[in-house]
Formats: sequence, structure tokens, C-alpha cells
Amino acid sequence: MPVVRRVYRCTFRADVLSVFSENIKKAFELARSPIRLRHVIARVQLSTHWKIAPIFIVLLAAIPVRAQTTVVEAAEKGLSISRWAQSGSISTRALTTEPTERLRVITRSGKASYLVKLGRLAFRSPLTLGGNARRLGLSCNTCHPGGAVNARFFFQTVSDRPGNLDVSHRLWNPKGDDGLANPTNIPSLRGIRWTAPYGRDGRISSLDEFTRNVIVNEFAGREPDSLIVDALVAYQREFEFPPNANIQELGKPSAGMSSAAIRGAKLFQQDCASCHIPSSAYLDGRSHDVGTSGYFDTPTLRGLAESAPYLNDGRAADLLSVVAHFDQLLELGYQETQRADMTEFLEALGAVDLPPGPVTARRAMDRINEFATLLRKPIEEEEFHLAERIGDMLRMELMSIHERFHLTEHATQRGALVVLSIRLGELIENARAGKYESALRELAAWRDQGKAAEVLLSAGAATSLYDPETLQATIAEAE
Ligand code: HEC
Ligand code: HEC
Repeated sequence: MPVVRRVYRCTFRADVLSVFSENIKKAFELARSPIRLRHVIARVQLSTHWKIAPIFIVLLAAIPVRAQTTVVEAAEKGLSISRWAQSGSISTRALTTEPTERLRVITRSGKASYLVKLGRLAFRSPLTLGGNARRLGLSCNTCHPGGAVNARFFFQTVSDRPGNLDVSHRLWNPKGDDGLANPTNIPSLRGIRWTAPYGRDGRISSLDEFTRNVIVNEFAGREPDSLIVDALVAYQREFEFPPNANIQELGKPSAGMSSAAIRGAKLFQQDCASCHIPSSAYLDGRSHDVGTSGYFDTPTLRGLAESAPYLNDGRAADLLSVVAHFDQLLELGYQETQRADMTEFLEALGAVDLPPGPVTARRAMDRINEFATLLRKPIEEEEFHLAERIGDMLRMELMSIHERFHLTEHATQRGALVVLSIRLGELIENARAGKYESALRELAAWRDQGKAAEVLLSAGAATSLYDPETLQATIAEAE
């Protein structure tokens, strides 16, 4: 097996992997295109096709090494993030903007700790999950972007409406399937450290345990290192509630609200505040049956503007419907105007003063640079496994940039990214071989190459899929 292990590190493993398993012939076709071969074979497939694997290795090794890639064309498969939206409803805006992350460290001192940074990387990485989720490039961040909600999330067979999915579906984990079609609405993780217990039904009180459960039981991942769980938790605990000028300390409404909202606030105090306690993030930490088919954990009402649709199964499209629901349930007998006042209050309470940010090549490369700083420590401390894990996650990040550049038009940009990926792989190989000092030198060189690549990428960005107009045209063509 040693030969196999050496050749196995592929440049962009996930894509090659799925191609291998789908169709060997296709893999041969790919092998004929310019490819970095020493980096190709995948472990899993070797076990399936072990008889022909040696032939493969010989064949592949005969092909010249070039800085190109085996990545199945973005044009062919669509951008991997567009996989998670309803076809026909993929919007340019959704692919070129993302909710703005609001972390406590950023508000506090501007510097994230090692653990928080590592958690941020693992949160974005499909390698954190297992099974089909990993194969399809799904990460925590796909559903909870920057700690907010991906309200457009939709995937055939597990979603019944945008923003919903069945987390206990065999698509994710054959062992975790409860046999029920029970799609749940994705909750926001903003302010998560204040909103225990976790899960829509509040079944788990610790964030550590919930996180491990998501990885292992829901998304069929391998038992994570405790360091990765700690990092994911440390990162999530940094998520602040979104800023909102209508709310003061301890959740008190500010003076600036409309008179309708102030009338709504009075009603709220009288009819709702026993469960949605203003001074504790508008929740009580308990589960209740509020006529939505079971017991559910009282959710916070902060950030509602970002998290429609509402209630555990997303049955309420807007806040007026939720108010109508509680009006009936609690037999409040509201007039039309009272429902409107309450809705206006909820809108003020749930407002989010934080516009989404643009998705750009520059920001993506900034993240790569930030994440690359994580490699130094494990290399210095000769912690191979952590270095390898970070390296693998970084390469997936590179891939997500790569797919936004065109195969022929941006050959330079793609080439630069592939070279970065290959060099990273080599650096990790050196660490594996115990050559930590040279790995450290290569890391420094790699970071300079990353800066050079950034300049190239910026030059091509205006005609890449980072550009809303180019993206719009590509989507129009595909549909
Ligand atoms: C495919 C979408 C998806 C992915 C991927 C995903 N989640 Fe979730 N997450 C959900 C849904 C849906 C719920 C509500 C599920 C429930 O009630 O059991 C949820 C709930 C949570 C909660 C509890 C929130 C609360 O207020 O109760 C946390 C924490 C969380 N997820 C963290 C994570 C982490 C960490 C990852 C990655 C390791 C992750 N999620 C991956 C969809 C997703
Ligand atoms: C008995 C406790 C209780 C009372 C009283 C109560 N709520 Fe709730 N509220 C809940 C629970 C539990 C849920 C979650 C239900 C679900 O997810 O299906 C919820 C959900 C909500 C949601 C949806 C939040 C989301 O993110 O999906 C809104 C909005 C809301 N309540 C507003 C109100 C208003 C307005 C009132 C007063 C008219 C009120 N609630 C009274 C317990 C309560």
C-alpha cells in the first residue's frame, strides 16, 4: 500500500473521487486531459477497483505533469454552491452576496484566537462532514452562512420548501434515518451562546454535544478530534446577535420605534413575554406545545428579518401569519389593527442592521491567507495530523475559488490556484516525511505565492463568476 498512499493525495480530491466512482471510463477521459497525475488516485475507489488500480497508476504516471486540473467543469456541474438552491430560482444575488459574519472577537479586539480561526475553517469545510454531504461539498456554512441562515437552501428529496431540510434522511446518514419525512427549518446561529438548549425541539443542552451530533449522527462524519469540536464550538460561541438600533441592552425596545410598534410592544409584554422573555434574548430555555405539532424550544426573536420562513417546519411565510397563529392559539381576540401593530413590533425587534457583503475573489483569498497562518503551529510542533487536516481544508477552499474562473479564458488564474494546491500538498508530504523544517520554509514561500496569485485573480475577477453580470449570463445560458 505505500505506493498507493503516496499517489493518493489528489489535487482536488472530492471531484475526482466522485468521477471515479461514477464511471471509470470517464476517469480515463479525464486522465487524457492535462492533469497532475501523481496526485490523483483516491483511497476509497482503490478498495473498489483494486484489481485495475495498478494499471491506472502506470497509465496515469505516463501522462505529462502540467499545472492543470481534473476538476469537472463548473459550467458542466454548475457552481457547487448553486447545487443548494431550487433549480430555476438560482439568483445572482444569492451567489454574489453572503450574510455578514458578526463575531465577538471582531467587535472586541479585532483578533481571533487560534481555536476560533480553526473553527471558522472547519465550519466552512465539507471535510468536517461525512458521506454524501462531504461528497457534495456541503459544509456547516452552506446552511448557516457566517452564523446566519441560508433561507434559499433547497435540495431535492430532503427539502419541501426553501430553507427547510430533513436532517434525519438517509441521504445524509442511512443509519440516522428515522423513516419520517420531517423537514425542519434551518435556524440562525447568531447569538447561539445565549439560546441553549439546541435543536428545534431543544433536545440537547450542550453546544459541544450538539456539534458532535451534527457531524457524526446527522451527516455521517467520522468521530471528530476533540480539537475540531472545540474549535467549532469556540467559533460558534463568537456569533453575536445582529446589531439592531431598535433594541437596547437587555432587550429593551428603544425610543425610536414607530407608534404602531410601541403599541405592539405593549401587547407583546402582556401576551408573549412570559415565554419570549425580553431580558433573556426573548426566550425562556424551555419547550412548549404551541400548536405546531409537538414540543419546541422557544426561539429567540432577534434577527427575524433574516430567518423567514418561521416556526419549526417553516409553515409561516411571514410574521403576520405567526401573529395570526398565536392570536388564535391563545384566544387573544386581536383586531386587525392589533395584529398589524404586533407585526410591526416584531419587525422592529427582529431587524438586522447588517447588510450582506459581496462575495469576491479578494475576500476569498484573504480568507485563504488567514487560514494559512494556522499551518505554522502544527508544523512547528510537529503535529502532522493537524497540519494535514488544515492543508486538506485549505485545498477545498482553493477549489471553491477555482470553480469561479473559466477553463480557457482564465487558464492563468486556474493554473495559479492549482499550483498553490499542489505546493500545499507537497509541503504536507514533507511534514509527513518528518521534514518539518523544510515544510516551514515552504510555507513561507507558499504564502508569498498566495499573494502573487491574489494579484492575478483580481485581474481576472471582472470576467469571472465573481462578477454578477458574468454570473447572470452564465446562469441564463444554463437554464
Ligand atoms: C444541510 C443543512 C445543515 C448543515 C450542513 C448543518 N446544519 Fe446545523 N442545523 C440545520 C437544521 C435544519 C437545524 C435544526 C435541526 C434540528 O432541530 O434538529 C440545525 C441546527 C443547528 C444548531 C442548533 C441551533 C439551535 O438554535 O437550536 C446548531 C448549533 C448547528 N445546527 C450547528 C451546525 C454545525 C456546527 C454544523 C456543521 C458541523 C451544521 N450545523 C451543519 C441545518 C444544517
Ligand atoms: C407558551 C410559550 C409561548 C408564548 C406565550 C408565545 N410563544 Fe412564540 N413561540 C414559542 C415556541 C415554543 C415557538 C416555536 C414553535 C415552533 O417552532 O414551531 C415560538 C415561535 C414564535 C415565533 C417564530 C420564531 C421563528 O424563528 O420561527 C414568533 C415570531 C413568535 N413565537 C412570536 C410570538 C408572539 C408574537 C407571541 C405572543 C402573541 C408569542 N410568540 C407567544 C413559545 C411561545
